[in-house]
Amino acid sequence: MKKRVLSGTRPTGKAHLGNLAGAFLNWVRIQDSGEYETFYCVVDWHSLTTDYAETDALRPNTLEMLRDWLAIGLSPERSVLFLQSAVPEHAELHLLFSMLVSLSRALRVPTFKEHLEDKRSELVKDKLRTETSDVSEILKGIRAEVTENLAEFIASGPSPETVRQKLSSELSKLTDRASDLLARSVADVDFSDVPGFDAISCGFLEYPILQAADIAVYRAQAVPVGEDQVPHIEFAREIVRRFNATYGQVFPEPEALLTPVPRILGSDGRKMSKRYDNGIYLADPPDVLERKLMGFFTDPAKIRKSDPGHPDDCPVFLLIKAFLPPRAEEVKPACERGELGCVECKRRAAAGLNEFLAPYREKRSSFKEDYLLDVLREGSRRAREEAAKTMSLVRRAMKMDWL
Ligand code: TRP
Ligand code: SF4
Repeated sequence: MKKRVLSGTRPTGKAHLGNLAGAFLNWVRIQDSGEYETFYCVVDWHSLTTDYAETDALRPNTLEMLRDWLAIGLSPERSVLFLQSAVPEHAELHLLFSMLVSLSRALRVPTFKEHLEDKRSELVKDKLRTETSDVSEILKGIRAEVTENLAEFIASGPSPETVRQKLSSELSKLTDRASDLLARSVADVDFSDVPGFDAISCGFLEYPILQAADIAVYRAQAVPVGEDQVPHIEFAREIVRRFNATYGQVFPEPEALLTPVPRILGSDGRKMSKRYDNGIYLADPPDVLERKLMGFFTDPAKIRKSDPGHPDDCPVFLLIKAFLPPRAEEVKPACERGELGCVECKRRAAAGLNEFLAPYREKRSSFKEDYLLDVLREGSRRAREEAAKTMSLVRRAMKMDWL
């Protein structure tokens, strides 16, 4: 029997190049390898763990995402493409699993801990912005430094585009530094009174329990995910081990099907993300892609063509490497030796990416909404059939099928 694969993603809407390279193209490869039975799920309940009130966007965002899935080759014949909330068995299993997890274990899931820390540092920064009187001193220092850096830079006679880039990169470096400095200077602030700090829902804490149920309800053996999700898969394994040991063997232990997730950065040099509004989308028309790419950060040390560049940290190069690998072999040495300028490099990368994306773009716009709805309904029906089989095994194992 073929191994069963399950993966999921929140309905964030149109896919950007980071989503494609990091997950979806890989899902297609797994589907097309013919080695697995593939289940791919839009996890809309997971979206509620951070934004419970934001339900208007769920439908359009799910359909836009499905459009991209189908455009790049996920197929409703070869995979089960479905919506989590259309399969209530996920919720039933989640409820049962939540009984098997101690509160202290849930609090130790690394992604949850990290979220708390991020939240904390955001709040520290907010608090500082409003409360610290030293801020103005630090800002004065920053202003002096920027002025000095820029004077030197402008003396070198740069083009308006490089000035723009240099300015934004200097400013973001300096704001980061300032926030770190400030954060360190008040490490002992008491957060218990910070508004919003306790706005984390029980649902958010239980996010990984729901994820474990997503996987286990199909008795999936393999879960294609990036490195960052490994703790969640480990957590799911623990839960099913406990279930099997307590009630009898029902679930296989799922394994992460680790896929190298290429680093894809957005226009501002941060991770490409819808949240930062720094992405290039599969749905972007060619002129939009080109305009966006021309505005991308590059290696800040490369101001003139003849300056040696460091492509491995350049957001443009990371895109070339992920989507146009043969081109990357040429760009890397030319950039490093100062034989290729960034404007030229971007122009060619835009042309290459547009060529690569053209067939997908065309396909994505060919699907009618009714077709997308049919795909999702039929996929969810098939998913539900499988999930229902698992749940009857679960109820039997738990001796809760007596009535
Ligand atoms: N937590 C996953 C992510 O953030 C999304 C997800 C939810 C998932 N349920 C899943 C991934 C089940 C794999 C299997 O990317
Ligand atoms: Fe990046 Fe290309 Fe410029 Fe090198 S030449 S820094 S790879 S944009």
